[in-house]
Amino acid sequence: MQLVWTSHPVPRLQGVIRAPGDKSCSHRALMFSGIANGTSEISGLLEGADVMNTARAMAALGADVKKTGPGSWTVTGVGAAGLKSPGEDIDFGNSGTAARLMMGLMAGYPLEANLIGDESLSKRPMNRVISPLERMGARFKHDGAGKLPIRLSGSSTLDAIEYAPEQASAQVKSCVLLAGLNAVGTTRLTESRPTRDHTEKMLRGFGARLSVRPGSGNRQVVEIEGGQLLQPVDTVIPGDPSSAAFLIAGALISPSGGVVVENVMSNETRDGFFQAAARMGAAIGAEDTGDAAGERLIDLQAASGGLKGRAIPETLVASMIDEFPVLAVLAAFAEGETVVTGAEELRVKESDRIAAIVAMLRVNGVGVEERADGFVVLGCAGPPPGGGLVETHHDHRIAMSALVMGTASRNPVSIDDAAMIATSYPDFAAHMHELGADIREG
Ligand code: S3P
Repeated sequence: MQLVWTSHPVPRLQGVIRAPGDKSCSHRALMFSGIANGTSEISGLLEGADVMNTARAMAALGADVKKTGPGSWTVTGVGAAGLKSPGEDIDFGNSGTAARLMMGLMAGYPLEANLIGDESLSKRPMNRVISPLERMGARFKHDGAGKLPIRLSGSSTLDAIEYAPEQASAQVKSCVLLAGLNAVGTTRLTESRPTRDHTEKMLRGFGARLSVRPGSGNRQVVEIEGGQLLQPVDTVIPGDPSSAAFLIAGALISPSGGVVVENVMSNETRDGFFQAAARMGAAIGAEDTGDAAGERLIDLQAASGGLKGRAIPETLVASMIDEFPVLAVLAAFAEGETVVTGAEELRVKESDRIAAIVAMLRVNGVGVEERADGFVVLGCAGPPPGGGLVETHHDHRIAMSALVMGTASRNPVSIDDAAMIATSYPDFAAHMHELGADIREG
């Protein structure tokens, strides 16, 4: 049964919302505390479906994982005893982050596990992590195409490697570093350009030693010594800039009003969307409010304003990789062309996001050209026609972007299935309603 939702245009979005916990940091907090040598408390955990799958996976592998209140969890890690073979299939649902990071984590223990995922995740490429993990000594059985379902056989004597992933991907980097944590020797990973650095920062918080230094050009080199036991630590999860982006975009396209999103993580590997929006003329303010888990926290404010189409610099792509669907919505309201290039990784996200973005805009009357590595939006210099039914392809970010678009387009915008929104932002509809949006079933 698909859950059709429609977002009807409203005169303004206005109000103050506290950002939900960051999804990337939430996955990592559960994983790292689950292997640490003792008990860690986590607060502000995002309780979306993706992160809950990680919690279940860590419990199936031997960690003691307990919810103690809303967003509050206590995890006692397996420590030196290590992760064990689970008695059930490990289901990562819709989450590429859970699947790829957990494969790296599990690879360093002598265990066997069957790994599965939903329809979207089962189409996504896993060779990008299978191939370095096989070089380190883990073994995998799959259909030959490197897709889930996969059977993983880990080893307590993985070899450290030197590895330079083909893609600028935090998931691949993190997978190799987590396997490296339990390997023999020092693993060195060279990224073609910096990607989100939560694994590095949070591993340090759990007492691990690793070094990060610039390489040639835009490259960055991360080294981690094997055989390190993590120490438990209490973590407060900062607010998710990727979820905040939907609310900020809603304010920017709204005919009037203004929105404040509180408690957002400010991290330069994640803020490309806000930089791109500023280049398009958006007035986004930020106020420092403290820190959490080694990250700076800010309150973001945005109000509606004239947006101009721009070429998005390729140097911003990695730091806004999840925000292209909602950037495309801004581009639809802007005056002039917005050009996205160098973003071919979007083809292998929860959906083929280039195709899904192009279809989302077209069905709502916006001119858009598809490119192999991006897209060009011909902005409407104001509200686009709307009126379309958007196919979400099991992609939460396409679903939320289309609903944001409907708050300010000339006609309502519908989505074919709202179910996936719960993977990353279960409170999305409630938060949008608080701001004045009119999103209804049917
Ligand atoms: C993530 C990394 C990114 C991002 C995903 C979360 C992470 O994926 O798209 O939503 O938490 O490491 P890639 O590493 O595949 O770019």
